[in-house]
Amino acid sequence: MALVQHKSKIVRFQQQVDNSVEYLVPFVEKRISVKAGLKVLEIGCGEGGVLKPFTERGSQVLGVDLSTSRIETACHLFKEEIASGQADFMVKNVWDEDFLEKYKGNFDLIILKDVIEHIPNQEAFIPYLKKFLSPQGYIFFGFPPWWMPFGVHQQVCKSKFLAFLPWYHLLPTGLYKGILKAFGEKPKTIDELIEVKETGISLHRFERIIQKSGLLTREKIHFLINPIYKFKFGIKPIKQAKLITKIPFFRDFVTTAGWYLVSPEN
Ligand SMILES: C[S@@+](CC[C@H](N)C(=O)[O-])C[C@H]1O[C@@H](n2cnc3c(N)ncnc32)[C@H](O)[C@@H]1O
Repeated sequence: MALVQHKSKIVRFQQQVDNSVEYLVPFVEKRISVKAGLKVLEIGCGEGGVLKPFTERGSQVLGVDLSTSRIETACHLFKEEIASGQADFMVKNVWDEDFLEKYKGNFDLIILKDVIEHIPNQEAFIPYLKKFLSPQGYIFFGFPPWWMPFGVHQQVCKSKFLAFLPWYHLLPTGLYKGILKAFGEKPKTIDELIEVKETGISLHRFERIIQKSGLLTREKIHFLINPIYKFKFGIKPIKQAKLITKIPFFRDFVTTAGWYLVSPEN
């Protein structure tokens, strides 16, 4: 079911900006002051909307993504900031050696919003990110736990029924793929959905990886209703009930977003 943000880059950009201004920046500011000179890297930046409130406050930003068209849009939308040297956007794989060489120890804040669930081998990737942090640096992660009702982004399905059908992505892969095919989903959509099913991450596994990576969770919020839904669907965000956040496994089924701010143990 194509929503307006799936068709319009500008709508998608503005939703990213609004969500960042109203929710992401205040969350990050529990620990870091967003101001001139702060060096910020966003991995999987898309059109770069999340970074807009950071450039507005004078921070220095770098956005990387694997999608050429999304980076082209970001370059267009941040023309002035790029010209002044305040922002840069590139199609880049952060595993590349030249990227590590150039940006080792460089960033005060690394943002991965709705991205870690797309990245394979998170056990190796998350500790690797520490190499890019400045001594006082933090990493923000925001992601939909993959057991939640729409945990593999099935809203991208063209079938309205499948877009609103909860939890069927938890079926075995063959059966899940069969259902998507039977409803006439395009091979590209099916591949994307299977990819998130394979890389999808639970709150429990994420927290275990953070711990094993020598990182500490400094701030955390779980949402019953993800803040981005306010801008996509007009539904007000709701924090998860405290009691539910403490029930391992069950919380994953009813939490639409987990937000974490982490930093190295010492
Ligand atoms: C759901 S979008 C999120 C975009 C943006 N962060 C936001 O919150 O709106 C996920 C983005 O991650 C990018 N992506 C996926 N794997 C990546 C990787 N290994 N390195 C960089 N970007 C990646 C995709 O191209 C896509 O633009």
